[in-house]
Amino acid sequence: MKPWGAFSEDSHGVSSLTVLPGNTLKGEAKVPGDKSISHRAVILGSLAEGLTEIQGFLPGEDCLRTATAFTAMGVEIEAPDPDRLLIRGKGLRGLAEPEDVLYAGNSGTTMRLMMGVLAGQGFFSVLTGDPSLRRRPMGRVTEPLRRMGASIWGRGKGAFAPLAIRGGCLHGIHHKNPIASAQVKSALLLAGLFADGETVVEEPHQSRDHTERMLHYFGLPLKTKGLAVGLEPPQRLEARALEIPGDFSSAAFLIVAALLVPNSEIVLRRVGVNPTRTGLLHVLRSMGANIEMANQREASGEPVADIWVRSSQLQGTQVGGPLIPLLIDEIPILALAATQAAGKTIIQDAGELRVKESDRIATVAQELSRLGARVQEREDGLVIDGGTQLRGSTYRSHGDHRIAMTLAIAGLLAEGHTQVLDIDCIHTSFPGFAELLCQLGAEVSVALGCKESQS
Ligand code: S3P
Repeated sequence: MKPWGAFSEDSHGVSSLTVLPGNTLKGEAKVPGDKSISHRAVILGSLAEGLTEIQGFLPGEDCLRTATAFTAMGVEIEAPDPDRLLIRGKGLRGLAEPEDVLYAGNSGTTMRLMMGVLAGQGFFSVLTGDPSLRRRPMGRVTEPLRRMGASIWGRGKGAFAPLAIRGGCLHGIHHKNPIASAQVKSALLLAGLFADGETVVEEPHQSRDHTERMLHYFGLPLKTKGLAVGLEPPQRLEARALEIPGDFSSAAFLIVAALLVPNSEIVLRRVGVNPTRTGLLHVLRSMGANIEMANQREASGEPVADIWVRSSQLQGTQVGGPLIPLLIDEIPILALAATQAAGKTIIQDAGELRVKESDRIATVAQELSRLGARVQEREDGLVIDGGTQLRGSTYRSHGDHRIAMTLAIAGLLAEGHTQVLDIDCIHTSFPGFAELLCQLGAEVSVALGCKESQS
C-alpha cells in the first residue's frame, strides 16, 4: 500500500485554463468527495479508537492539509487509493505534540477545526497558513476557546494566524455565535469532546450540520434544541467505515453550466444533498431551473442522490436571510447564473463572503463586470441585472478556487476565448475539474507551466 506521504504534498503545475463556448453538455459524471465531510472524517477517524476506512475521500489540497496535520501528531494514515484512506485512530487522549508548525495552506476549515482539537490537547502547537488564510478572521474561534480554558496567542491578540495554542483542562460553555458558521460551531464541538461538561453552540441561522451528523455516526448523539446544539463529552469514539458523497459545492458548477449552455442535459451521480448545503437548488428552482433528484438514499448518515439537470431559461430572484448559510459557497456561481437570467437578482445578508478565500463580493463583481455583466457591489451582497452577453478575454482567479471555476463556466457562455489565469487553487477542492468538463463535452484546455496540453 502506498504510504500516506506519497502524495500528500501536491505537485500540480497547472497555471491557466482556456475555455471555448458552443458545445452542449451531455452525459453523466461523478464529482469528487465532499470537502467538508472529508475534513471531518479525518478528524474523527484520528480521534476514534480502531481502524476507520474512508471511501470517497476528497484528495484535494485542503483535506490533505488536515490529514498531514494528524500524521504530524502521530496518527497513521494510509491511502491505498487517492480517494480511500485508512486511519488508525489514536483515541481521544492519544495525539502527540507536533514537532513543527502545522500548516493549513489555504484551508480555513483545517485551521478552525484544528483549533478546536488542539485546544483540547495538553501540549503546545502552532498553526499557520498561506497569505490568504493568514488574513482571515480567527478571533471568532479564539475568543470562545479561551473562555473554555485554552491559552491561545496570535497576531492581533489571537485574531490572525500564526496561532500558538496550549490546551487542556477545558470547561464546557454555552456560546451564542453572532454569525452562522459551521466552522466556528464545529471547532467548539470538537473542543467540547475534551471539556469537563456540556458544550452548547447556538447560532442565528442553521449552518451546515456535517459535524453533528458525523459525531452521531461515530456513536455520540448530540442534543438539539432549535438552533442550539449541545455535546456531552464522551469516554471514547468508535472507529467506523465511512462513505463520503460527492461534493454538492463542486456539483454546483456543473449544474449551473448545464442550465445555462443551451440544449444540455447531464446527470451527476452520488452527490451529497444534505439540506444544510443545497440552498442553491431551492434558489435555482425558484428561478425556473429544470433540476430533478433521483435515487435518493443515505450514506454514513448523509443524504445522497443523483441530480438531473436540463438547460432552462432563468428569471431573476432575491436571496438573503437564513438561506445564505445554506448556499454560502455557491454565491459566485449563482451570481454567474443571475447574469443570464431575465431581470434583476439581489443577493443580500452575505457579508461573510468578504472573509472567504478572497473577498468574494469584490472579486465576483470585478471579474463578472470585466466579462460584460452588469453587477453592482453592495456591502453585504450583489445586485445583478441579467440577460447580458458575456465577452471572452483573460481573467484572474485571485487565488480563489471558486472564482476560478466560476470564470471557467462563464467561458462556456462568453463570445470568443476565455482564459483564466492562476488556476492552481482549483486543486484545493476540485481536482479533475477541467477533465470532468471535457468529459461532458466542453472544450477546455489547460496550460501546465509552459506546456500546452489538451485535457
Ligand atoms: C465550511 C463552512 C463554511 C464554508 C466553508 C466550509 C465547513 O464556512 O464556507 O467552505 O466545512 O465547515 P463558515 O462556516 O465559516 O461559513
